[in-house]
Amino acid sequence: MPSPVEPLAPERLESDRRLEETLRPRTLDEFVGQEGIRANLRVFIRAARERGESLDHALFYGPPGLGKTALAHVVSREMAVSMRSTSGPVLERAGDLAAILTNLEAGEVLFIDEIHRLNPTVEEILYPAMEEFKLDLVIGQGPSARTVKIDLPRFTLVGATTRAGLLTSPFRDRFGYIARLDYYPPEDLLRILERSARILAMTMTGEGTQEIARRSRGTPRIANRLLRRVRDFAEVDGDGTVTPEIARHALERLEVDEAGFHRMDRELLLTVIRKYGGGPVGIDTLAAAIGEDRGTIEDLYEPYLIKEGFLDRTPRGRVATARAFEHFGLKRPPSVGSRGQAELL
Ligand SMILES: Nc1ncnc2c1ncn2[C@@H]1O[C@H](COP(=O)(O)OP(=O)(O)O)[C@@H](O)[C@H]1O
Ligand SMILES: [Mg+2]
Repeated sequence: MPSPVEPLAPERLESDRRLEETLRPRTLDEFVGQEGIRANLRVFIRAARERGESLDHALFYGPPGLGKTALAHVVSREMAVSMRSTSGPVLERAGDLAAILTNLEAGEVLFIDEIHRLNPTVEEILYPAMEEFKLDLVIGQGPSARTVKIDLPRFTLVGATTRAGLLTSPFRDRFGYIARLDYYPPEDLLRILERSARILAMTMTGEGTQEIARRSRGTPRIANRLLRRVRDFAEVDGDGTVTPEIARHALERLEVDEAGFHRMDRELLLTVIRKYGGGPVGIDTLAAAIGEDRGTIEDLYEPYLIKEGFLDRTPRGRVATARAFEHFGLKRPPSVGSRGQAELL
């Protein structure tokens, strides 16, 4: 049966997590799109391998679901080394990171997800580790405490974050390569969906796939989740083949509209329009009004709406654009941006 969790939801079902693992690209060739980043990585990886060195530390940032974790896996595979994964919030104490670092093997990739959430004391021991592959350990306490430097194997740190702006600049400066992942155009999503459909042995018509690609908010994770939910509808309501009709019917049931907006996108925009006359409205007020966490709005919902020109971020708050009013068939009062009242056309 179709899952009750909408594809855009930040929380992940166990079955979705398994699906992501199955569909994860393994090589730079399998990784679709992001041409600039792939071309750069190809050069860096080749150069490092020819010199027999580890790859420089890399930081991948961008909205959720665009392939940061996938790219970290691709990097370690292309370097033919193994990868250890952890995340900012998991590393509570400096000792947690020290234990991981001292257990690394030469050349290995250490992947730290949500690296903007590292505790400052943990971040501090990461600096010398990244720069000189040394660990400063404090032994003992009080006046007899002393610091010893331990040599670490050369390793590659790959960090991922939705918020590069929250990293301090000395931290950012320690990465040799910083790459921002962008939303994918529908052509790229189509290729990702075709590959996923092949792996999942699904029968799809070309237009069925296009319909999903167009409505996936430029995000591979959402495309793959929609694909899976659409397959459920195809099996229950049809003969298993994803036709354009089945795709449209399923997307309607999943509350994904023609513009590719999901329920929360509409709720956010309509709240700005109806409740705050188009804005400006402060992010915290908006978060309270729609009952969503501020960070989720900033990371997941609004970057796409801003990129597509439906929402503006101004110093005084969020403002719905003329395009947003149009999308809902509403008239934008001339005063929007200062303060006004939305009217039905
Ligand atoms: N460029 C890509 N090509 C193919 N599949 C991708 C691509 N980017 C992401 N995916 C798939 O989308 C899903 C989410 O990607 P993930 O790396 O977990 O995103 P992030 O870490 O940025 O939140 C995974 O199943 C991944 O395999
Ligand atoms: Mg990730």
